[in-house]
Amino acid sequence: MKSSRPEALSVLVVDDDTQMLKTIKDILRLRGYSAVIAATGREALKVTSEMVNAPAVALVDLQLPDMDGIELIGRLREIAALTEVVILTGNASIDSAVRALRENSNDYLLKPVQPELLVGTIERAGERWQRHRAELAMSESEERLRLIFDHVSDALFIADDSGRIIDANPAACALSSQSLETIRALTMAEVLPESSPQGRSDHRVLDVRSAAFAPGVLVYTVRDLTRQRKLEDQLVQAQKMEAVGQLAGGVAHDFNNLLTVIMSYSSMLLADMGANDAVRGDIQEISDAAQRAAALTRQLLAFSRKQVLQMRAVNVNSVVTDVEKMLRRLIGEDILLTTHLDPELALINADPGQLEQVLINLAVNARDAMPQGGDLTITTDNAELSDEHGERHLGAAPGSYIMLAVTDTGSGMTKDVQQRLFEPFYTTKGVGKGTGLGLATVHGIVKQSGGDVYVYSELGHGTTFKVYFPRLTTAEPVTITAEHRAITPRGSETVLLAEDDEAIRTLGARVLGALGYNVLVARTGGEALRIVAEHKGQIDLIATDVVMPEMNGSQLVERVLEARPGIRVLFMSGYTDDEVMRRGVIDGQTAFLQKPFTPDLLAHKVREVLDLP
Ligand SMILES: Nc1ncnc2c1ncn2[C@@H]1O[C@H](COP(=O)(O)OP(=O)(O)OP(=O)(O)O)[C@@H](O)[C@H]1O
Ligand SMILES: [Mg+2]
Repeated sequence: MKSSRPEALSVLVVDDDTQMLKTIKDILRLRGYSAVIAATGREALKVTSEMVNAPAVALVDLQLPDMDGIELIGRLREIAALTEVVILTGNASIDSAVRALRENSNDYLLKPVQPELLVGTIERAGERWQRHRAELAMSESEERLRLIFDHVSDALFIADDSGRIIDANPAACALSSQSLETIRALTMAEVLPESSPQGRSDHRVLDVRSAAFAPGVLVYTVRDLTRQRKLEDQLVQAQKMEAVGQLAGGVAHDFNNLLTVIMSYSSMLLADMGANDAVRGDIQEISDAAQRAAALTRQLLAFSRKQVLQMRAVNVNSVVTDVEKMLRRLIGEDILLTTHLDPELALINADPGQLEQVLINLAVNARDAMPQGGDLTITTDNAELSDEHGERHLGAAPGSYIMLAVTDTGSGMTKDVQQRLFEPFYTTKGVGKGTGLGLATVHGIVKQSGGDVYVYSELGHGTTFKVYFPRLTTAEPVTITAEHRAITPRGSETVLLAEDDEAIRTLGARVLGALGYNVLVARTGGEALRIVAEHKGQIDLIATDVVMPEMNGSQLVERVLEARPGIRVLFMSGYTDDEVMRRGVIDGQTAFLQKPFTPDLLAHKVREVLDLP
C-alpha cells in the first residue's frame, strides 16, 4: 500500500454518523487522499456539483436521513458518471447491497469498517477510476483524430510499404471516385495513376506527398490543385490583357488626335475644292484611309476598355432582332440561324452600338468556323451567377445578369486557342483573313459594361460563347442624341477651346471661327482659367479636351463652373481614363465629342450643346 500519491485522489464520504465520518476522513487523509464529507444525501449532491473535478470515489452509506442511498447513487451518477461508488452498509443486508450494486455502485464495505479493508477497497476503486478515465481520454482523442481524418479537405491514404492501401479518408474516396472497400483492395499506383509518371488520365493537377509514419506505414497526402492552378492561369491571363490594353489605349489616344487632323483638313480641302479638281480623288483616298484607321483605333480602344460608351437601358432581344437580318446576309445560306429569345429578359445598361459589335464579331467567327455550313444559335436568358461560379472564374461577381449565348456547330478549338483567343492580334486565320481583334473587342466591350464572357468549346463539335451583362438596377439614364442636319450649323456665341494638342487647337479655332463663333483658345487648364477670369464679355461654351497635363478636363470644368455657373460644357476625347469623366458620360449627363472628329461633327455638337434647353 502506498502512503502517498502524486495526485491526491478525492473521495466523497457520505454518512449521517458524524463520528464515523470523522474517523474515515482521518484514515483517508493519512493515506494521502483528499476527503470531502457530507452528512446527508442533499449535502452530498451539493458538494459534488460544486467540485471542480468530480470525486474519484464516493463512499455512500445506504441509510441516510433525507434520501434513500440508492436514489443518491442514481443522482450522483448523473453529475459524476465516472465516479466509482462504494456502498457502506451497516445492517449487513445482502438484499440492499445487491440492490445497490445493481444500481451502478461498484463495490461495498460492511460496517463496522475495518481501516485496512477500507483503504484496500478505496485503493482498488481509485485504480479502476484512473483506468476508466484514461480509457475515456483515449477514446475522446481517437474520436477527435477520426473527425479530422474524416473531414480534412486533403485526401489521405494510409498504405503499407508495398503501396497497398490500408485505409483512406472520405476526401480520398471522393478524389479517386472509389468506395472505401474498393480502395482497400488497391495500391497507390492503381488509385492515382497521375501520381506515377506514366499517363495522366485527366486534366487534374494533384500535389502528392508521402511520409513514413511508423515502420511500414506510409501516409499519402493528396491535394487537388486543379482549381487553384486554373485561377492562377486566369489571373496571369487577365494581367497580360490589362498590360496590352494599356499599351493599345495609349497608342490609340495619340492616333485619334492625328486622325482628327488628317480627317478635318482633308474634309476642309474637299469642301473648298471644285467638283472636277484634279487632286480631288487623291484627297478622297486620304480621307477614306483615315476613316479606316479611325475604325481600327476604335477597336483598340474598345479592347483597352477606354472608349467612351454611350450607355442606356437596352433590351438585348431588340439588339438581336435589329441585327438578325444583317447577320443572315453575313453568314450566308449554308448556315441556319436560330434565335431563342427569353421574352422576360431583363434590361441592361449598355451601349447598343457596341452590343451590335459584340454580336457581329461572334457571328462572323462562328461563320468562319463552319465553312461547310451548320447551325448558329443565338440565345438570351436571365441568369444568376452563384458564389460557386465566382470561385471558378475570376471577374464576374455573383448576382443577377442576363446571358447572351452564341453557339455554333463548327470546328471548335483546342485548349491552347481557348486560352489566348481574347488577346488582341491573336488569330489562327491566314494572313489578310483575320486581324485577331474581333474577340479582343468583344472582351473589352463586355468588361467595360461590367460583364464577362466565357468560351466553351470542343474540338470538332462546336463552340459556345456566353456573354453576361449585369441587369439594370438604376433608373434609365438620360441620353443626349446627336441630331444630324445636312447643313453645317453656324453661330455667333463665344467659345473657349481648351486643348493641349496644337494641331487640334488650331484646327478647332479655324473651324469654329469660320462658322461665325468668337473663339478663345487655351493650351492648358491654367490658361483657360485665366481667360475665364479676365475675359470681359460672356463665355457661352467651354469645349475642352479630357486628357491634358497638369489639370484634366473635368477638373478644369469644375473650376470654370464655379466662376461662370451658366456656361455650357463640351468634352472632347478619344478615350476616357478618368473615373469622373467615365461616369459622367455613362449616365448621359455630359455632352461629349468623340475623337477623331470632322469639322462637320464639331460644328453640330457645339450647336447642339448651345441649343440645349
Ligand atoms: N466560334 C469559333 N470557333 C472556332 N474558333 C474560334 C471561334 N471564335 C474564335 N475562334 C478562334 O479565335 C481566334 C481569335 O478570334 P478573333 O475574332 O479575335 O480574331 P479573328 O476572327 O481571327 O480575326 P478578326 O475577328 O479580327 O477578323 C480565331 O482566329 C479562331 O482561331
Ligand atoms: Mg473574328
